[in-house]
Amino acid sequence: PRGAARGADGVVTLAGVPVLDLAEKYGTPLFVIDEADFRSRCKDVIEAFGPSSRIHYASKAFLCTEIARWVADEGLSLDVCSGGELAIALNASFPPERIAMHGNNKSVAELEAGLAAGVGHIVLDSLIEIDRLNEVAGRAGVVQDVLVRVTVGVEAHTHEFISTAHEDQKFGFSLAGGKALDAVRRVFGADNLRLVGLHSHIGSQIFEVDGFELAAHRVIGLLRDVVSEFGVDKTAQISTIDLGGGLGISYVPTDNPPPLEELAAKLGAIVDSESAAVGLPRPTLAVEPGRAIAGPGTVTLYEVGTVKDVTLGSGATRRYVSVDGGMSDNIRTALYQAEYDVRLVSRDSEAGPVVARVVGKHCESGDVIIRDAWMPDDVAPGDLVAVAATGAYCYSMSSRYNQLTRPAVVAVRDGAARLILRRETVEDLLSLEVTQ
Ligand code: LLP
Repeated sequence: PRGAARGADGVVTLAGVPVLDLAEKYGTPLFVIDEADFRSRCKDVIEAFGPSSRIHYASKAFLCTEIARWVADEGLSLDVCSGGELAIALNASFPPERIAMHGNNKSVAELEAGLAAGVGHIVLDSLIEIDRLNEVAGRAGVVQDVLVRVTVGVEAHTHEFISTAHEDQKFGFSLAGGKALDAVRRVFGADNLRLVGLHSHIGSQIFEVDGFELAAHRVIGLLRDVVSEFGVDKTAQISTIDLGGGLGISYVPTDNPPPLEELAAKLGAIVDSESAAVGLPRPTLAVEPGRAIAGPGTVTLYEVGTVKDVTLGSGATRRYVSVDGGMSDNIRTALYQAEYDVRLVSRDSEAGPVVARVVGKHCESGDVIIRDAWMPDDVAPGDLVAVAATGAYCYSMSSRYNQLTRPAVVAVRDGAARLILRRETVEDLLSLEVTQ
């Protein structure tokens, strides 16, 4: 987080709040969000892309009512991809016209909820969904603005599970075989839908700008095909080119994401020149960052419980440092071989560094948070450690595996801490039980 510092006593402070105070007051594991960091990253994206673009925060990265309020304050739009995310956005009184709905299998109930709320647009993902939404909108007596999600055939160089624009996957309409153009025709023919944009999302944790550039070229290529078939006047209602999320962040020092300004300038230039070339008014460029806004400003605070040296077959030893959370609050290492950085934050240490494996308390050996971390040799039970950049896809992908209860989430700002999601309790677990 931008607001992290080590005090003279060796204790790390986050936005001026010592981690010892946070752990004492709220317990561990604890997600601590540096509010100024989160807000400054909203501002950074707006500044990089400029006032004529539209920035959606992808709420799947992390959402709760407080976060939705920050996003609204900062002037961003909000992407939701489920009825639950929509409900939280509405609970925050997020301006509905700035909400966009995503998903490859939105239910009728979710579509109805979106229309009832008056969401700005819905991103359509299949022919079945085009017909379904047309019908739902007809019943509701509204004409709904929609985008068509295009699969542009770009292989983003990221983990297979989180790259989404190559052809063989469940999202969107392929350019290949004319599927995307078919979708455009179908929407143009639907009385209760108004096509206002094209959408592409090529993947997540991407470090190369060229994948986004290729996606931009291809989406605008589709626009060119639409112009050939329907003419400039009809095509001009397609006034948004949304290139999705995916900008990578730095989890460990070797991660080197491209600057926002570079991405914004290159994409802006493509949209400028290529829309002019097809004779269309310049569409609005939209992007949907989640991780780049929510990720860097949060740490997970854990208490060390046990330290064990295991002798390996080679005769070497491996140190296992167990913390009081694990794969239920951070599944990303187990799922994507993600890498994280960890620091001893409750005191200084003069001890030399040793390689340690930071593991959780779950009943399986895959419960690893960091495979190889340098930690002071004297890390011991009772120490607090912080894992950095856990703001995106950690709480939001959390589970109750082994009936662990979800951690609390605290926001820190100007030397003060505020609880924004309370810790789950055993009573919460028992409250689902029907058999008393
Ligand atoms: N827009 C769409 C349509 C998306 O599907 C996503 C992410 C985003 C925007 C935001 O992407 P971001 O800027 O956060 O990369 N659970 C995985 C990431 C899955 C991303 C899914 N879609 C992880 O933990 O790395």
